[in-house]
Amino acid sequence: MDRATAFDIRDPSLAGQGRRRIEWALAEMPVLRGLMERFGEERPLEGIRMSGCLHITTETANLARALKAAGADLVLCASNPLSTQDDVAAALVEHYGIPVHAIRGESTEVYYRHIGAALDHRPVITMDDGADLVSEIHKSRQDLIEGMLGGTEETTTGVIRLRAMAAGGALRFPVIAVNDAMTKHLFDNRYGTGQSTLDGVIRATNILLAGRTFTVVGYGWCGRGIAMRARGHGAHVVVTEVEPLRALEAAMDGFRVLPLEEAARQSDFIVTATGDKHVVDRRHFEVMKDGCVLANSGHFNVEINIPALESMAVDKQRPRASVEEYRLADGRRLRLLAEGRLVNLAAAEGHPSAVMDMSFANQLLCAAWLAQHGHRLERRVHEVPTEIDREVARLKLAAMDIAIDRLTDEQRAYLSSWEEGT
Ligand code: ADE
Repeated sequence: MDRATAFDIRDPSLAGQGRRRIEWALAEMPVLRGLMERFGEERPLEGIRMSGCLHITTETANLARALKAAGADLVLCASNPLSTQDDVAAALVEHYGIPVHAIRGESTEVYYRHIGAALDHRPVITMDDGADLVSEIHKSRQDLIEGMLGGTEETTTGVIRLRAMAAGGALRFPVIAVNDAMTKHLFDNRYGTGQSTLDGVIRATNILLAGRTFTVVGYGWCGRGIAMRARGHGAHVVVTEVEPLRALEAAMDGFRVLPLEEAARQSDFIVTATGDKHVVDRRHFEVMKDGCVLANSGHFNVEINIPALESMAVDKQRPRASVEEYRLADGRRLRLLAEGRLVNLAAAEGHPSAVMDMSFANQLLCAAWLAQHGHRLERRVHEVPTEIDREVARLKLAAMDIAIDRLTDEQRAYLSSWEEGT
């Protein structure tokens, strides 16, 4: 047994269950498994100090094992106070020798203390889901900046934060936007969020979706996935947007597009996936139907204006584990899931392993790429190198036993010429 030393987790005795679930997930992660084997021999991260601020799930555990096999000296903390799977944290510490600072349900104070502990490791590469490590380094641990090779970022919200930092001239080391790889957002954000959000809503409420009105706020890749899967359950799906191209796409994908104030009057479910603040606000609560279920699938718990809801409520009950029912003065009840935190991770188990396989293969390959090239990169947000994106797609296709065609010489020549017409 390879036991970590410094750590802060809920209960080490959960390690056995955690290990069994981590192995179960690994069976669904063939790309990561193959890379773990290859990097176990090549050791591209030998001796590299890394800190990861990620959702502590079975999939992240397998990424952590792969990083360690590649030679990294890794410490983990949670990227959300409610997403940690305590059995996984225990297994990482007890069986895989990886220090973890994460406890499900931790307070904001403990959350930031855990980020501080991960930074005390003095990483030269950070791996973020939401940009908290990069943000904390720039705000309060600037002593680390000099030694940094770079960071990687997993999620849309994190990439938006980092681009804002770069635009303001504040970003002082390179970061790779893993989220923006095709083999990440086209699959994880769409099919991963689609399935896991519906899973979270259903596990939390056990309410039938068929025949109900289900509003999706935001039609980015996550919103597209949620809308698609809600339709699959037989719901009448409404999409709300602020961006005309996306609204048009939603309309032509066959969804009803409405302003949220109108949608709110009709909805049985409202799920946010915008990355923005207070998109569901007081004026929407004022017109919602009795019993409306509210959930968020975006990274931060700011999309639904919870302080406004609290101030409007005359009573609050907890009828089920992940449900808070607010009663308003006129008797209507609004049901908030998972305290407005990402419902797919807080009320379910996050994206299925088979999709995280591609996201985390990108993370692993980008960490190895940063170890090699980081010291030469400009201090800005970088795209995932195209060869990495292609390699992940090729490896996933091979694992799925799917073969594709190749261009003939004649076709290749045609595509690179401009003279030939009809
Ligand atoms: N983000 C969404 N789903 C996830 C999962 N299963 N593991 C880690 N991060 C995630």
